Amino acid sequence: MALLRNKIVQILLNQQSTLGSCKYATASSTNLREVLTNLIPEKQEEVKKFRAEHGKTVVGSVTVDSIYGGMRGIKGLVTETSVLDANEGIRFRGYSIPECQKLLPKGNGGTGEEPLPEGLFWLLLTGQMPTQEQADAVSREWNKRAAIPNHVIQMLNNFPSNLHPMSQFSAAITALNTESKFAKAYSEGVKKTKYWEYTYEDSMDLIAKLPTVAAIIYRNLYREGSPVGAIDMKKDWSWNFATMLGYENADFVELMRLYLTIHSDHEGGNVSAHATHLVGSALSDPYLSFAAGMNGLAGPLHGLANQEVLVWLTKVREQVGDNITEQQMKDFVWNTLKAGQVVPGYGHAVLRKTDPRFTCQREFALKKLPNDPMFKLVSSLYKVVPDILLEQGKVQNPWPNVDAHSGVLLQYYGMKEMNYYTVLFGVSRALGVLASLVWDRALGLPLERPKSYDTPHLIKLAHAVKK
Ligand SMILES: CC(C)(COP(=O)(O)OP(=O)(O)OC[C@H]1O[C@@H](n2cnc3c(N)ncnc32)[C@H](O)[C@@H]1OP(=O)(O)O)[C@@H](O)C(=O)NCCC(=O)NCCS
Repeated sequence: MALLRNKIVQILLNQQSTLGSCKYATASSTNLREVLTNLIPEKQEEVKKFRAEHGKTVVGSVTVDSIYGGMRGIKGLVTETSVLDANEGIRFRGYSIPECQKLLPKGNGGTGEEPLPEGLFWLLLTGQMPTQEQADAVSREWNKRAAIPNHVIQMLNNFPSNLHPMSQFSAAITALNTESKFAKAYSEGVKKTKYWEYTYEDSMDLIAKLPTVAAIIYRNLYREGSPVGAIDMKKDWSWNFATMLGYENADFVELMRLYLTIHSDHEGGNVSAHATHLVGSALSDPYLSFAAGMNGLAGPLHGLANQEVLVWLTKVREQVGDNITEQQMKDFVWNTLKAGQVVPGYGHAVLRKTDPRFTCQREFALKKLPNDPMFKLVSSLYKVVPDILLEQGKVQNPWPNVDAHSGVLLQYYGMKEMNYYTVLFGVSRALGVLASLVWDRALGLPLERPKSYDTPHLIKLAHAVKK
C-alpha cells in the first residue's frame, strides 16, 4: 500500500510547509476549532488548484505483482498528517520524532521531559507547532469531554474476562456512537460543507473518552474491577490516563506522554489508518470508523506485534535464562524462523532502516532502565536479529520496528499484562487517524468509496495481460 509519494508527496510536503508557515490572525488562539476554521478554506483552495492543474497527471503504474502484493507500491492515497520515508522514518507534518521531542510543549506546565500528545494532535490537525498554552488548552478541553455514558460502563463491566482487551476496546468505541454529533447532524440533513465540524467534535469527544474506557478495561481484567477514579481537570491526558490505570510513578507518566505521541500516526497506508479512512469514506461516524481501525490494529502483524514481542522475549528468558550467550540467542531466532514464524518486532512494509520510534524508546530505556534484564535482552537481539534475517534472505527490512521495544518499557514499570499493550497503542493511534478523518471531511475526500466493483479476478487479469 502506498501513498502518493515522490513527485506528488513533494508537492504535498511543500503544501504542508506552506500551511505550517502561514501567519493567521488566530495563530495564537488557544481555540483549536477556531484555528482550523481559518485554515480549512485556504487549504481547500490549494487542493482545488492543485487538482485543476495536475488532476490528469499520471503518478504511477500498476503491475500484477502490486495487485497480488496487497496494492504494494501503488500510489493511491492522500494523507495530510504525516509522511513515512523508507529510510528516515515518520515525519509528523514535516517534523521528525527527535524534532517533535524537542519542539512540542511538555507536561507539568512545560517542565516535563517528553512531549504532550495534546501538542502533537494540534500539530497533526493544523500543521502548526503549538505553544504551551495551546497544548494545555487541548488538555482542558479533553478533560471536559471525558465522561462516558452508563450503557458503555455497564457493557464493559459485563464482558467475560476471556474477551481480549482489544475486542472490548473496539466494542466499547462502537457503542459510544450513541454520542455521535456527526451521526445526529447527518440524519438531520446537515450540509456537506459542515461535515468536518461534526467530525472534529466527535473526534475531540472520542479522544477525550478513550483513556477512561481503556482504564476500565484494564481494571476490570487485572485489578479486580477497582474504580478508575475521577479525571483531574488540571492535569494532562497522559497523567490522567496513567493515574486511572493505577500508575503514579512520574517516569511512567513521562513514558505515557512519549508512547502516546510516537504511536499516533504512520502515514495512511497502514491497516489501522487505512481501515479508519475507508470506513469513514462511507460517512460512518468517527466512532464506527475508528472502531474499524482498532479491529485492524488488533491483528498480530500490526499492533498486536507489541504483545507478541513480549510473549516471545518471555519465552527466550524462560528457556535460556538471563545470562544468554550470543549463540543461544541466534539459535532461538533461527528456531523461530524454522518453525515458520516471524520474528515479532522486526521488519516493516515501508521502512527500510531502524524505526526511529524504536530508537527513541531505546534512548528512554538507556536513561531510565539501563540495567533491566528485558531491556538487555532487547539490546542483544538488536545485535543478532538483522544479520540472521538478512541471511535468511526473505525480508525487505531486517531492522526493528516500534513494537520491538514498547512492551519492555511497560513491563519495567509493573505493567506485565501483555494482552493489554495494544490498547495503549490504540489510544495513541486515535490522534493520527482522527486528525486525518477531519481533513478527509474538510477536503471532501471519500477516497475509497467504490465507483465500480472491478475486482482483480484472475480471469480479468489474464485478459488485461494479453491486451
Ligand atoms: C511488518 C510486516 C508484516 C511487513 O510485511 P511485508 O511488507 O510483507 O514484509 P516483506 O516484504 O519484508 O516480507 C517478505 C518476506 O519476509 C518475511 N518476513 C518479514 N518480516 C519478517 C520477520 N520479522 N520475521 C520473519 N520473516 C519476516 C515475510 O513474511 C515475507 O515472507 P513470505 O514471502 O514467505 O510471505 C512483516 O515484516 C512482519 O510480519 N513483521 C513481524 C510482525 C511485526 O513486527 N509487525 C509490526 C509492524 S510495525
